[in-house]
Amino acid sequence: MTGGARTSDLGDLGAILRARLQQRRAAGLYRSLRIRGGPTAPLQSLDGRAVVNFCSNDYLGLATHPRVVEAFRATAESYGVGAGAAHLVSGHTEVHAALELRLAQWLGRERALVFSTGYMANLGAVSGLVGPGDTILQDRLNHASLLDAGRLSGARMFRYRDPGHLERLLQRTAGASRLVVTDGVFSMDGHVAALPRLAELCAREAAWLMVDDAHGLGVLGPGGRGSTAQYGLDQEAVPILVGTFGKALGGFGAFVAGSAALIEVLLQQARTYLYTTALPPAVAAAVLAALDLLEQEPERRERLQGLIDRFRSGAAALGLPLSASETPIQPLLLGTPQHAVSAAEALLEAGFWVAAIRPPTVPPGTARLRITLSAAHTPEQVDGLLEALGRWHRAAGIPPVAGEARSQPAAFGERDTILPHHDVVQDPDVHQR
Ligand SMILES: Cc1ncc(COP(=O)(O)O)c(C=O)c1O
Repeated sequence: MTGGARTSDLGDLGAILRARLQQRRAAGLYRSLRIRGGPTAPLQSLDGRAVVNFCSNDYLGLATHPRVVEAFRATAESYGVGAGAAHLVSGHTEVHAALELRLAQWLGRERALVFSTGYMANLGAVSGLVGPGDTILQDRLNHASLLDAGRLSGARMFRYRDPGHLERLLQRTAGASRLVVTDGVFSMDGHVAALPRLAELCAREAAWLMVDDAHGLGVLGPGGRGSTAQYGLDQEAVPILVGTFGKALGGFGAFVAGSAALIEVLLQQARTYLYTTALPPAVAAAVLAALDLLEQEPERRERLQGLIDRFRSGAAALGLPLSASETPIQPLLLGTPQHAVSAAEALLEAGFWVAAIRPPTVPPGTARLRITLSAAHTPEQVDGLLEALGRWHRAAGIPPVAGEARSQPAAFGERDTILPHHDVVQDPDVHQR
């Protein structure tokens, strides 16, 4: 190829990319980075301005806890920063092994396996367990990493709307190996999955249940052991449990927990475990310190619950479109992307940093503000946010809502969800993340 031909190809590419970006802008879907100063904490500097952060997943305020930071620092001093290799080469240290043992004991599972991120844990677990010829059934609100995991696996993938719909799909797919996958707490909606019912259906239909408890772990259940523990669901009921360290545990990374056989299979076959550098040991040590704090300071979860109750009763009094969520994820459903973005801008103007979440992260027509609460917030900060929300809501002329908003568009029909894996991508009614 000549130099001239390359330039003209690049010119075309540039024009195509600019047109794509323009389309996103016109649809109100353009995303921009914001530069934060300092650690994740309620009081932040954003683009040089002081704001209160209501869009971090550091639900217990552990990311900046002195003991967590000290564990990280001390381990980095003794082990260095990088793990140096993948786990199965030479990257697996005593610190990783101690963390895996601790997680397994804490969660009542035989073994746990540490992955470098939650995204990778999900890709590795799903595609390490099922493949072409198998069937995956996913809640339609599942996190993007679970949907991508399903696509990567090559298995047939169906999306279910609720447990009744799942039951019918399980009956129709009898005979295949079935993996049922759900978020424990839905990341953009905040409600907890109907886990006891899912576990019962999976037991009856001989399907495997996988729960990604990224947002439940540390927050829900006895000792913060998550949504499965909240319902007393053990390894038999939920054989594949995923948790992440980057949210309530204030760290980074993730794990899969389950039977010794499950973990051994993933260790042999999960490509996102095999072919990537191990988590830095200092991060594993920081997570161990966070687990100690979870045990020793239950008042963090109590404080968080108090703030959730305070926010919900204040928002209900203002007639804001609250969702049916009892967790620190408190979305306000606003509908169009433009509405969500203008609300987030008005709040920022008032000194509150809240994320506007738009399609394709959520279904069309359900753009929202995703407000997240942390034990590190003060009641006064929550009251300040409510005041600013109330001012914005009145100024925007939106009529008050009684009751809770729903993120399931009524148009989501059963027929639309019964889709083989390759069709899911094209279906306009199923949101893609
Ligand atoms: C439900 C859920 N699973 C998995 C992930 C991915 O975890 P990680 O950030 O560790 O990749 C996230 C968010 O980040 C999530 O919300």
